[in-house]
Amino acid sequence: MIRGRRVAANPIGSSVSASHSALVPDWLIAPAEANELVAPVWPSSARRRHDGSVEIGGVSVFDLRDRFGTPLYVLDEDEVRAHARRARDAFASAAGRHGVRSRVYYAGKAFLSTEVVRWVTDEGLAVDVCTRGELEVALAGGADPSRLGFHGNNKSVGELERAVEVGIGSVVLDSPIEIERLAAIAERRGVVQNVLVRVRTGVHAETHAFLATAHEDQKFGFSLEGAADAVVRIRELSSLRFVGLHAHIGSQIFDSSGFRESAARLVDLHADLLAGGDIPLLNVGGGFGISYTSVDDPRPIEDIADGILDAIADECAVRGIPMPDVACEPGRVIVGQAGVTLYEVGTVKTVEIGEGRERTYVSVDGGMSDNARPALYGADFSARIVSRTSEATPALSRVVGHHCESGDIVVDAEYLPADVVPGDLLAVPATGAYCFSLASNYNYTPRPPVVAVRDGEARVIVRGETIDDLLARDVGAAASASTATPHGDTE
Ligand SMILES: Cc1ncc(COP(=O)(O)O)c(C=O)c1O
Repeated sequence: MIRGRRVAANPIGSSVSASHSALVPDWLIAPAEANELVAPVWPSSARRRHDGSVEIGGVSVFDLRDRFGTPLYVLDEDEVRAHARRARDAFASAAGRHGVRSRVYYAGKAFLSTEVVRWVTDEGLAVDVCTRGELEVALAGGADPSRLGFHGNNKSVGELERAVEVGIGSVVLDSPIEIERLAAIAERRGVVQNVLVRVRTGVHAETHAFLATAHEDQKFGFSLEGAADAVVRIRELSSLRFVGLHAHIGSQIFDSSGFRESAARLVDLHADLLAGGDIPLLNVGGGFGISYTSVDDPRPIEDIADGILDAIADECAVRGIPMPDVACEPGRVIVGQAGVTLYEVGTVKTVEIGEGRERTYVSVDGGMSDNARPALYGADFSARIVSRTSEATPALSRVVGHHCESGDIVVDAEYLPADVVPGDLLAVPATGAYCFSLASNYNYTPRPPVVAVRDGEARVIVRGETIDDLLARDVGAAASASTATPHGDTE
């Protein structure tokens, strides 16, 4: 995985044994003690109490474990709301300096539940969905359909029908086939549907690095040339109204350089297309990065918003065209840092891995079923013991799950106190985005509940699955065969 800006290479400290040192990734810093909750990684409400245990949103991890069990997704409501407001204000202020308006769509794929829809819409965000399921959750959460955007490279006829039926604000078109499909649906329903055209700008960004090529080999959107043809076709169709171009250049992006490059290419096309009519909007997508570990150092969203809006303004000025309003679609930066996953340690063992080296494996009661990102992308996370502090020497550890895969890694490399024992509560921060939404039932593991915390109160916003839930889909299973607890342990 391409890493972000590293603030230091690993200074192999005296606390690292020789047998461990070769296993330390070059970015991981040996801490003096392994108790600190590093600010940009944890929600700002996370703190240690007098007894050394951690609270989040004013709720003790012991209360969370006792009431809801582990593993558990904990989501800090104030943190989500604060990030939503910050994104909204950052883009409003950057756009305002250029005399245009902005719209921030929350990318629901990062984490969607009716409650989260309420939080982000309360804070003034629109919502971006990309399946019928996400659309229905957004509607059930009370989102105004006219403030919804609908994405996807293969939206079905049924999905498009439903989107038009509910009066969706805009559909981001992805292929020539979809243009005809949507036009026919809108015509049949007697409406004019606002559409954007998704463009592959040839800019792909991942964290701090971006690559600008003439072409991109990926499934989404139209090439720059193809997009021009698509817009010509859309303008011929009376049931569609072209409102702007769209591009999404990647994920976990730390600064605005990739966006600037993409904006240059988008504005070039936008300028050409103005010959055929007014274009009110430009959507630059999402992908703004967060700190998963203490060495990730994304630019503040205000800087990124300024960078993007300045780039668009410059490109428009060079071409002598009016600047459009600007939309964006952040997901991770809104919910990522607000989420913490709570686990209980089950086993700890040290494994000889050859050449005199050994690795400590700390096994927890979840894993790749609740956080697929390490297995899918080699993503790095951090971890802390949250039921107590420890003065024991920090020891390089690998946190793993309970699944039948050697790739079932939760945190590849982390310094945990050397005295970690079964029963300790271990928490992984920055799990608010793409963990719940990518969760699976692998090994017939019930998916954990999501609990929102705020002002010392905790409440379930998505209930956990039970063994009964799992058996319910198996037509051969007797419904009465299980007496499962909410967390699925059979009594
Ligand atoms: C089209 C589009 N918009 C927005 C996003 C949100 O990205 P992020 O959560 O990294 O901000 C994605 C993520 O894949 C996407 O594909």
